[in-house]
Amino acid sequence: MRTINVGLFGLGVVGCGVISILRRNRGLIRARLGADLRVTHAVTANPKKKRSVALRGISVSKDPATILSNPGIDIVVELVGGTTHAKSYVLGALDAGKPVVTANKALLAEHAREIFGRVYEKELSIGFEASVAGGIPVLRSLKEGLSGDHIREIVGIVNGTSNYILSKMSAEGTPFAEVLAEAQRLGYAERDPTFDVEGHDAAHKLAILVNLAYGTTIDYSKIYKEGISRITPTDITYARQMGYVVKLLAIGKLSGQRVEARVHPTLISVDHQLAAVNGVFNAVFITGDNVDATMSYGRGAGALPTGSAVVSDIIDLARNQLAGIQQKIPALSVTKGELRNLSVVPIHELESEYYLRFQVLDRVGVLASMTKIMGNNNISIQSMVQPAQADHPEDPVQVILITHRARDRDVQKSLRQIAKLNFITGPTQLIRIESFE
Ligand SMILES: NC(=O)c1ccc[n+]([C@@H]2O[C@H](COP(=O)([O-])OP(=O)(O)OC[C@H]3O[C@@H](n4cnc5c(N)ncnc54)[C@H](OP(=O)(O)O)[C@@H]3O)[C@@H](O)[C@H]2O)c1
Repeated sequence: MRTINVGLFGLGVVGCGVISILRRNRGLIRARLGADLRVTHAVTANPKKKRSVALRGISVSKDPATILSNPGIDIVVELVGGTTHAKSYVLGALDAGKPVVTANKALLAEHAREIFGRVYEKELSIGFEASVAGGIPVLRSLKEGLSGDHIREIVGIVNGTSNYILSKMSAEGTPFAEVLAEAQRLGYAERDPTFDVEGHDAAHKLAILVNLAYGTTIDYSKIYKEGISRITPTDITYARQMGYVVKLLAIGKLSGQRVEARVHPTLISVDHQLAAVNGVFNAVFITGDNVDATMSYGRGAGALPTGSAVVSDIIDLARNQLAGIQQKIPALSVTKGELRNLSVVPIHELESEYYLRFQVLDRVGVLASMTKIMGNNNISIQSMVQPAQADHPEDPVQVILITHRARDRDVQKSLRQIAKLNFITGPTQLIRIESFE
């Protein structure tokens, strides 16, 4: 039986997960592949460090050349993370004519043009299933299962940390900071959680989903990113009373010759399938013109779920090698020469419904003044809630308005004008509402 040799960069959480799966499921993989998969070389920052798996049979070093210049290595796997060394390993492997598997969403999102440009130029394969939604085979469904469909929209819960925090806040009414501290204690959130809770991680994954769905390499910096740190239990409670839940969504849609690509806290109907996705779980809701709505659900992180996606990519690339081909499915779904240069619709052009929570003094004419400003800015009100009267005339009360579809630019302008009114006592909360096609 033929052996396919794998060179692995990074022996961290996912790297060790991959070694463990390849070892544990060796018989199954042999039966499915018709060949043996072996990690023969690993390159890591601290080769002497103790690992969660035994490294017998693997030559471990700090020297990238042991993999990149090794003619015996058939497939290179990059599980280092970051965009500096990882980038040189991935490009180095492609330049050496070796197919690559990576879980590195930051690299693929921020350097999409360079990485995919090289993949297309060299006519090689790159597997990156693990870079979005961990173990959920969502990229494969886009590339293969939905290859005959126009993708109408992609809406994902793709950051487990944020989803855990919002789920806990919703279930227990606990403020953001408290739940975050607990998530950090439990290991669900990093010590510096900015990347997860401010939407950057979800935006990386969204860039990859959009690039794959529309055969493009969008400019990552143009994705609108807003995190969950300003969401309060008050908003979650009012939203629930109005039939909504709050989720951090990554949303991608084709809009003419451009794409919408945005990450922000979003209200969705309690009846929508994504509303039931709680805790650290991820889900990606994809609508195609023929298939209609689909949803994939599962674990978005962890050594074994992520390792599962990496191993499936290794098997895929190994099948190519056994078939004597470099590439069966183009890296971004479309063939060479068909990649489009799509720009991202700026957020101020977005049209959406809005949840707006104002903090005001309970005076006559307050509502009329606010709705007049909104009317002057082409915003009409769909519904309103004023939960309770103030005990004292100088105590602020909350007013919640749900708008009809309005332009982001108009909403922001009216909020700036309303903020100047003398009965406004605090910052206004804005949450976009996604109503789905
Ligand atoms: N963890 C997850 O659940 C998850 C989920 C989806 C995607 N990912 C992605 O998977 C990748 C790996 O994540 P991880 O959680 O496994 O990270 P990790 O636990 O921090 O492991 C990173 C590994 O890379 C090694 N390394 C660091 N700098 C290096 C360098 N210059 N050259 C060679 N090796 C170097 C480290 O070395 P030493 O151990 O020797 O110090 C470590 O073994 C990242 O791109 C991440 O975004 C992770």
